[in-house]
Amino acid sequence: MDNFNFYSPTEFVFGKDRECEAGEYVRKYGGKRVLIHYGGGSAVRSGLLDRVKASLTAEDVFFTELGGVQPNPRDTLVYTGIELCKKENIDFILAVGGGSVIDSAKAIAAGVCYEGDFWDLYCGTPIKKALPVGVVLTIAAAGSEGSGNSVITKVDGLIKKGTGSDLLRARFSILDPVLTQTLPAYQTACGATDIMAHVFERYFTNTKEVEITDRLCEAVLLTMVKEVPRVIADPNNYDARANIMWAGMVAHNNIVGVGREQDWNSHNIEHQLSAVYDCAHGAGLAVIMPSWMEFVYKHDVMRFCQMATRVFGCSMNFENPEATALEGIKRFRSFLHSIGMPINFAELGAKEEDIPLLVEKTGVGSGRTGGFVHLSSDDVAEIYKLAVKAKL
Ligand code: NZQ
Ligand code: ZN
Repeated sequence: MDNFNFYSPTEFVFGKDRECEAGEYVRKYGGKRVLIHYGGGSAVRSGLLDRVKASLTAEDVFFTELGGVQPNPRDTLVYTGIELCKKENIDFILAVGGGSVIDSAKAIAAGVCYEGDFWDLYCGTPIKKALPVGVVLTIAAAGSEGSGNSVITKVDGLIKKGTGSDLLRARFSILDPVLTQTLPAYQTACGATDIMAHVFERYFTNTKEVEITDRLCEAVLLTMVKEVPRVIADPNNYDARANIMWAGMVAHNNIVGVGREQDWNSHNIEHQLSAVYDCAHGAGLAVIMPSWMEFVYKHDVMRFCQMATRVFGCSMNFENPEATALEGIKRFRSFLHSIGMPINFAELGAKEEDIPLLVEKTGVGSGRTGGFVHLSSDDVAEIYKLAVKAKL
C-alpha cells in the first residue's frame, strides 16, 4: 500500500426529510446570503425547491436563485452565476440537484474569488480561494457531493474539463434517498454506471497488497449489482435507493481509492463523448468502460479474474484464466445492458467517423495517460473502435 492522506471534511446529512434542515446547515457553516443553484426543473416540479427555500426563510437567511443548469454543465451559466454572486454579495452557494448542478456551483464558488476568467482554474491555474458550497443531492451518480472535483464544458469548442481542490469540497451534503425516487429509470441507471465506474477506475491498479481497498471496492460493486435492478423494478424502494445513494458517495470521496495508483482513462475517453454528443456521462461510460477493459485486461489477467469471480460470480478457470477475465467483462456489459444502458456507439448516438476528433480531444497527443495501463493516442482510438462494435 502507498502512503496517503485522506481528507473528507464534508458533513453528510443522510435520510428522509433531511432537506428541511438545509437552512440550519447553511447557518452552521456561516452562510448569510445564499445563491440557490438548481437544474432544469425537476427540483421545482417535485416541490423540493420550495421546501429548501422554506428552511432558509425559517433561519432568516437571505437567498437569491439561479436555475437552468444543464446536464454536462456549461461555462456560460457559470459566468452568469459569478456576476449574480458579485451583484448580490453572496457568501454561500447551495446546490440543489445532481453532479451537474453541484459542479456548476463549485465553478461559481471558485470563480467569484478569482480575478481572471474562471476557465483558467480548469486549465491548470490552482484554486486559491472559493466560497463555501452546500449540497442537497437529488441523484446518486457523480459523487460530487463528496469529491473535491468539478467538471465543466466550455461551449466554445465543446471542451469538457475537470478541476480539483479541497476548497471545492462541500461543507455539508444532504442525502435524502426519497428525492431520488422521481428519477427516470434511465437516469437512475446512468448514475449507477458512473458509481461503478468510479470504483473500477480505482480497482484496476498496479499497487500490490491493497486488500482493504480491494474489498471496499468489491462491497460497493456488489451492492450496485444487487440494488440497481431492485430500483429499476420498483423506483420507490427506499432501502435500495438508500444503499445506492450512500454507495455513490463512498465510490468517489476516495475512501476506496487511497494508498493505490488509480487509472481514470475511461473517464477521459468518455468525457469526449458527453462533450461532443451531450449524452449522459454514465451512458458514455457504459459504452467505454467494458471496451477499455477488453483492451487492457491482458496487463493483469488475475486482477480481472478477481473482479469476475468476486463481483460477477464467475467460476475460476485455472487452466484458462483469460477466459474467466473475459467472462467477467462480458457479465459487466450484460449487467449494464440489463439496466437499460447503451453498450456501443450506435446505441449511444456516437459516430465512428468522429473517432479522430474524439482522440484529439482527449489531449493524449504524443504522450501517454492513465495509471493502470499507459495509453497512447493509437490505443485510445482502438478503445473507441472496440466501443463501436461492442455487442452482448
Ligand atoms: O436538471 P433537472 O431537471 O434537475 O434534471 C436532471 C438531469 O436532467 C435529472 N435529475 C436529477 N435529479 C432528479 C432528476 N430528475 C428527476 N428527479 C430527480 N430527483 O437527471 C439529469 C442528470 O442530472 P446530472 O446532474 O447531469 O447527473 P449526474 O449527477 O450524473 O452529473 C453528471 C455530471 O457530473 C460530472 C459528469 O461529467 C457530468 O457533467 N462528473 C462530476 C464528477 C465530480 N464532480 O466529482 C465526477 C464524475 O466522474 C463526473 O465526471
Ligand atoms: Zn464519473
